[in-house]
Amino acid sequence: MITVENLTKKFGAVTAVDSVSFTVKEGTIFGFLGPNGAGKTTTINILCTLLSATSGTAWIDNHDCMKEPSEVRKRIGIVFQDNTLDKELTAYENLLLHAYLYNIPGRKRKERIGEALRFVDLYERRNEQVKKFSGGMKRRLEVARSIVHQPRVLFLDEPTLGLDPQSRTHLWEFISTLPEKHRVTVFMTTHYMEEAEICDTIAIIDKGTIVAQGSPQELKRQVGGDSLFLTTTDNRRAAADLKALLGLDAEERDGELCITVSGGESYIPRVVQALTGRVLSVRLQKPTLNDVFLHLTGRTIRPETVSSGEEMRSIVRTYRRKFDNR
Ligand SMILES: Nc1ncnc2c1ncn2[C@@H]1O[C@H](COP(=O)(O)OP(=O)(O)O)[C@@H](O)[C@H]1O
Ligand SMILES: [Mg+2]
Repeated sequence: MITVENLTKKFGAVTAVDSVSFTVKEGTIFGFLGPNGAGKTTTINILCTLLSATSGTAWIDNHDCMKEPSEVRKRIGIVFQDNTLDKELTAYENLLLHAYLYNIPGRKRKERIGEALRFVDLYERRNEQVKKFSGGMKRRLEVARSIVHQPRVLFLDEPTLGLDPQSRTHLWEFISTLPEKHRVTVFMTTHYMEEAEICDTIAIIDKGTIVAQGSPQELKRQVGGDSLFLTTTDNRRAAADLKALLGLDAEERDGELCITVSGGESYIPRVVQALTGRVLSVRLQKPTLNDVFLHLTGRTIRPETVSSGEEMRSIVRTYRRKFDNR
């Protein structure tokens, strides 16, 4: 449904997207996972025909994003990184406006809008002004709006950014059923590891380059194993026995013995048996996507934090300027 080949976007001296290639199969959820500034939004903007690439190609449903923008636009829906609802209008009116813009015939409008609102659990709230909605409700409403015209591909740019954990989990439930319930292919970007877990395929992007692609399971397997943590009556003696009897290297960390092995579960009975009566506890830790990113880039993905007063002041200044310019 989506094919991208050697896509590159430069902004002056900055290469925001650097020769990126990937394909997305119909009916799947594809995730672009990467830290701030990695090039996620830039890629989405090119695919959505809002930005032209410096070089490379992109197709959606066999239409060229650069050469056939109107064909591509008919087939896509988008939830932007920043909220774009009209807060003075009701939930229903926001979707109605969208239905007009997409030329949905009059007899179908009401039904399609009702269906979309029911999908995200907002039908009962349809006649309320959006300004009274919580952050999570607004996001759900944007998802509803993006499917009213029945797109084949849906783009979600950081769909749960800034939401509390509960609203995020709630939204993931809707997103994960989109392919099945609305027959769309989903392309989403995120810097939340847990969010990437709902994707069928993930591309990890860092500094404009894709550093790894695969299912969450495949990527985690690349890290090279599970960690088995043991507490024993005598860690030093246990480590020596594990080496002698099973050939395992155990390392002591904060009072626990740590063994890195693939297929950690199958080692538990062997380890317990080898150390007869001396194992006090066993804990198995599977690698996370955070470990994958760390393994590939030597850094962890963290949402941006406002760490200093100066940064906060600079953000306030930027917002003031935006506000003054309106
Ligand atoms: N319009 C623009 N002009 C100049 N630089 C830009 C523009 N848009 C994005 N960039 C730069 O491109 C890089 C990637 O940005 P972006 O695609 O927004 O990343 P992400 O969405 O992953 O956080 C960043 O270094 C950003 O500063
Ligand atoms: Mg972005």
